[in-house]
Amino acid sequence: MKVGVLFFILIIVFSYNINCSQKISVIGTGYVGLVTGACLSSFGHKVICADIDTSKIQKLNNNIIPIYEPGLTELIAKERQENRLLFTSDIPNAIKESDIIFIAVGTPMSADGSADLTALYAVLETIGHNINSPKIICIKSTVPIGTCKSIKPFLSKIINQKLIKVVFNPEFLREGSAVQDSLHPDRIIFGGSKKAINVLQDTFISLINKNVPVITTDLTTAEMIKYAANAFLAIKLSYINEMAQFCDKIKADCGVVAQGIGLDKRIGNLFLKPGPGYGGSCFPKDSQALLNSAKKNDMPLHILKASVKVNNKQIKYIFNQLLNLMDNNLHGKTVAVLGLAFKANTDDVRYSPAIPFIKNLQKHNCIIKAYDPIASENMKHEFPDIIYSTNIYDACKNADAVVILTEWPEFANVDLSLIKDLVKTPILLDTRNIISTEILDNLEFNYTNVGNCKVK
Ligand code: UDX
Repeated sequence: MKVGVLFFILIIVFSYNINCSQKISVIGTGYVGLVTGACLSSFGHKVICADIDTSKIQKLNNNIIPIYEPGLTELIAKERQENRLLFTSDIPNAIKESDIIFIAVGTPMSADGSADLTALYAVLETIGHNINSPKIICIKSTVPIGTCKSIKPFLSKIINQKLIKVVFNPEFLREGSAVQDSLHPDRIIFGGSKKAINVLQDTFISLINKNVPVITTDLTTAEMIKYAANAFLAIKLSYINEMAQFCDKIKADCGVVAQGIGLDKRIGNLFLKPGPGYGGSCFPKDSQALLNSAKKNDMPLHILKASVKVNNKQIKYIFNQLLNLMDNNLHGKTVAVLGLAFKANTDDVRYSPAIPFIKNLQKHNCIIKAYDPIASENMKHEFPDIIYSTNIYDACKNADAVVILTEWPEFANVDLSLIKDLVKTPILLDTRNIISTEILDNLEFNYTNVGNCKVK
């Protein structure tokens, strides 16, 4: 009797484990796809990460991670050792070998501001031509509202649409903390077919068991959640950046203002740091895509439109701060630019405020000496001809002005008296409010930051 009960329990545990481990492919190995694939593998699934970029796949198969993302190298190494995570450029085979296909390809901004869906539809076509059994297609890429609904009709031209179910599962990870964000998300959103969502809930059961809130809804609402979240955060940033400009004018301390308002739980203290304006692969693109979508639906989104305008003006404002510090005389001057990534802890320079800032310096014929701990290589594609220094002090040597554009911790801890000795003139613009104003005062720097903040 006892043996029978034990046998029964073993069967349940065994079959539960089998059901829990799913065959998944993730197509697209950028910041989202690679992190998603590694995390899904860490949940115990068999994951194939696929990409048409053969050199990227070759690197990954040689344990070289093509992006900088804290914790990712270690996670991928561990999952590969467990034989749960594979990399391939054979997308048709990855499709055939999996029951769930996550699509995480880029949807960059086109010239007209709309999202370019070429890569997404190319993957869908490949799925259509290689499908060998029923599949769940789970879209991770941020797509314009209505895209997910159009996938079944699109694929029905190639295959029997009963073979596929579509789910939209937006990604909220931030670059620089992507692994942490994926393993400890604030929420999981599923939009689409109920049956498919049930399967995907098993995919994420490790998180759901940790009480991560789950929202299940229709495709369009899920698409809207992703855009509305990013747009809200972008608006919050433009709001504080505009307040910072006003604080500069009236000599109020925007850091204290942010602290004072952020303690109100309804406002919250995150995303209230004034700076050079938001950048990155999401906020600029997603704000524009949502505006486009709204325009198509005859719905002017006044607040979002204003926030985009404020953000575009912010970098000009920052540049004017430098001009003021230099008595409007920048022509031919040497400027040390510290920080090229759009934020700290990433090598990503997409829509980095450093790009328009450097372009403006070039218009003034400045000699630009740039330094970033890890993003210089990526910035060389945009600016092959500026000087790339190998450390902060080298960049600052003989500079007429120093500008901090990214909040890397090593900039906050810089030896300011050494900098003062190295530069031609002690002029500093801190667009991230990370340099101690107390020390700058003591060393008699001519400086400014964003929003007249006192920094300890
Ligand atoms: C963002 C969203 O946070 C994430 O949920 C979504 O999935 C993708 O887009 P990411 O672009 O990686 O993530 O960076 P994030 O940390 O959100 O910062 C975006 C921009 O805002 C950066 O340019 C950053 O420097 C700026 N920022 C952020 C500020 O200027 N001040 C702040 O207080 C916070």
